[in-house]
Amino acid sequence: MPVNIHQVGPCFAGEVEGIDMRRPLTPQEVADIHAGMDKYAVLVFRDQHIDDEQQLAFTRSLGEIELAIGASLRAPSEYRLPTTFADVSNLDQDNKPFARDDRRRLFAIGNRLWHSDSSFKETPAKYSLLHARIVPSKGGNTEFADMRAAYDALDDETKELCENLVCEHSQIYSRQQIGFFDLTDEERERFKPVLQVLVRTHPVTGRKSLYLASHAGGIVGWPVPEARAFLRDLTEHATQPQFVYSHKWRVGDMVMWDNRQVMHRGRPFPAHEMRDVRRTTLKGDGPTVAQQQAA
Ligand SMILES: [Fe+2]
Repeated sequence: MPVNIHQVGPCFAGEVEGIDMRRPLTPQEVADIHAGMDKYAVLVFRDQHIDDEQQLAFTRSLGEIELAIGASLRAPSEYRLPTTFADVSNLDQDNKPFARDDRRRLFAIGNRLWHSDSSFKETPAKYSLLHARIVPSKGGNTEFADMRAAYDALDDETKELCENLVCEHSQIYSRQQIGFFDLTDEERERFKPVLQVLVRTHPVTGRKSLYLASHAGGIVGWPVPEARAFLRDLTEHATQPQFVYSHKWRVGDMVMWDNRQVMHRGRPFPAHEMRDVRRTTLKGDGPTVAQQQAA
């Protein structure tokens, strides 16, 4: 069956038909998916009732996996899933929802702010692939903002201002925004800032996009309050409704997005309900900027 993609978002995002993740992809299907990602930046695959091994096999057929190590407040002894998965569920290792005031849950609430996955790593993520196993009775949508369209809509003066700026990204900064300061010295060291360009150019299409995230807490050479106010203005611009696709999850959905081209955020859901969504992630090509510039 040929791969068919039709647009579902206001200015981007496509729904894919003709892929069954329970069997290996053909080279043509791999090429079609990458081409779809280059064009739509977010792809939705419905009714993919797969297990962890099938999710890993599908992910590996598209590229090299980024391991999820040290990016959350879960200690290695508390991992529910192998490190080939980012566990973005609200569940502990016994598959029980975290207590409302559990610091692992409160830290993860940072994912409700607009962000790009792993922008706090020197080499940030390429694609994220999120598969829904259990979804809550209400809420829990994932929203995506098209950072190419947002860039295109900037006036020329702002484009020029952004062109060569370099930002400092850290999970410390995103958590400051929600009033979460409860980090140990070890966690602060682990989450120390990395540098990322503010404007990225897609290697295949040549389109430019804003590379924003709530993890961005400074601009190299700028006073911090001025930088944060400017980044907030850019984020408000980039997340206007005409740039946003909101995904309402069904069990079996796989949604794949290109972190180089979109931001996303999770929406709230009842704290006592289970939300088991499992993310595999493809590694990026390399740092977006030389890290020795870091202060
Ligand atoms: Fe995320």
